Amino acid sequence: MADWWDADGRRHRKQFKNAASAREHEHRETALAHAERASREMKLAARTGATKRSPAKADRGTMEPAQGKLGVMIPGMGAVATTFVAGVEAVRKGLAKPIGSLTQMGTIRLGKRTDGRSPKVKEFVPLASLDDLVFTGWDIFEDNMFEAASNAGVLDYRQLEQLKPFLSSITPRPAVFDHNYVKKIDGPNVKKGKSKMDLAEQLRDDIREFKKSSGASRLITMWCGSTESYIEPTEAHQSLKAFEKALRENDEMIAPSMIYAYASLMEGVPFANGAPNLTVDLPVMLELSRKNEAPICGKDFKTGQTLMKTVLAPAFKARLLGLSGWYSTNILGNRDGEVLDDPGSFKTKEESKLGVLEHILQPGLYPELYGNIFHKVRINYYPPRGDNKEGWDNIDIFGWLGYPMQIKVDFLCRDSILAAPIVLDLVLFLDLAQRCSELRGLGIQEWLSFYFKSPMTVPGLYPEHDLFIQLMKLKNTLRHLKGEELITHLGLEYYD
Ligand SMILES: NC(=O)c1ccc[n+]([C@@H]2O[C@H](COP(=O)([O-])OP(=O)(O)OC[C@H]3O[C@@H](n4cnc5c(N)ncnc54)[C@H](O)[C@@H]3O)[C@@H](O)[C@H]2O)c1
Repeated sequence: MADWWDADGRRHRKQFKNAASAREHEHRETALAHAERASREMKLAARTGATKRSPAKADRGTMEPAQGKLGVMIPGMGAVATTFVAGVEAVRKGLAKPIGSLTQMGTIRLGKRTDGRSPKVKEFVPLASLDDLVFTGWDIFEDNMFEAASNAGVLDYRQLEQLKPFLSSITPRPAVFDHNYVKKIDGPNVKKGKSKMDLAEQLRDDIREFKKSSGASRLITMWCGSTESYIEPTEAHQSLKAFEKALRENDEMIAPSMIYAYASLMEGVPFANGAPNLTVDLPVMLELSRKNEAPICGKDFKTGQTLMKTVLAPAFKARLLGLSGWYSTNILGNRDGEVLDDPGSFKTKEESKLGVLEHILQPGLYPELYGNIFHKVRINYYPPRGDNKEGWDNIDIFGWLGYPMQIKVDFLCRDSILAAPIVLDLVLFLDLAQRCSELRGLGIQEWLSFYFKSPMTVPGLYPEHDLFIQLMKLKNTLRHLKGEELITHLGLEYYD
């Protein structure tokens, strides 16, 4: 005979074999009582629509508030950059809506499904307000943002006219440029320097000057420049010491985008890479990012065709449908399309686009389904289309007993319209990362993979490409930072 106490502290007496089985009985009864109580409360909440908050936990680390102006510095003031800046101004003036932006229009569910708590993302975490954004940029052409946006031909002329004074006031600083890295274009607005280190110093001067003249309290660099020729990392990219030596010696393996990245990170400014170039996807940049607590992320905005690929491929894998071929082709006629007409730049883009299927479908785990895929990606420069790209996908899949089927996707998209909200979210989230004690020293911000075709990870970790896993990762990171429960979708508690 032994005593045991229930969850309400009442004493009971019962016959047990020994003391251990008495303790076990007490634990089991207590757990059952707690589960029943939680279930009763849940049902009551569901019936009454009550919004019971889970006990608030402390925020992880600290998140400084977004005080003062945020300076956005953009190397490459072409179609994407001007569509982004014009869009921010149009939204600020109440002329348009920030459609496609998670930070502006998205919500985040907190707690249980029955809690009814889904604040807007921008109300949940302290993001900079659109009114606090100020801009500068670099380009090899001298056009101001109004002229560049008019040439890009993405936005309607009447809409641009309404934004003309603002856009005309943003003129490009002379660029660091090397024609060998972007063969299809050349322009007059280019810096001269004795060495690549000298050019980096000039960019650092630009950054300091912009911070001072704009009154910004924080800065972000967002690469929207052309896609550079394909290169593999070399010794020069392995450490800060080697990289600085290579800068002084004008090593040809240092591309212009890397000089911008080095200058930014040296100034403690976070850097996001919207193109597929290596740029910050290098050991030296990870080292520098961690050292100076300036977060980095990349690469290559996930906008049209790859967005669709990372939605469809997870569906095939989820249903164990096999894939024998995926032929993707594009026609586009903007300057990006012209640059990608060069085999060197196309190779960089091709590498970025091809990795997606392999990582999502995991042929090593499913050799009968995905062990023999013919995957082809083509990009064709076709001037009449301008920025209005057409992306075709022919997908050959097979199902039960191996019977073949086909899917055709024809996405008549607008490249820069899809890219602009991504730029905005990256700017705001990278700035948040730098104000957050738990994230600022990590270097790569893998939680922002959602926005990239070829997400950066620490060496040895494979990237996550599935769009919905990426979104869950992003939102769970925000929940984690705010001390909220992570959402696992287990949901057994609703059925107790
Ligand atoms: N639009 C999309 O959907 C999308 C998707 C993924 C990636 N991207 C990438 O984003 C980048 C921008 O695309 P875009 O459509 O705006 O191209 P764009 O050609 O209109 O603009 C790029 C600009 O960068 C400038 N530039 C090139 N090298 C430079 C340098 N070293 N310094 C400063 N400026 C430089 C060019 O003069 C040009 O004005 C490209 O690399 C593109 O591949 C775009």
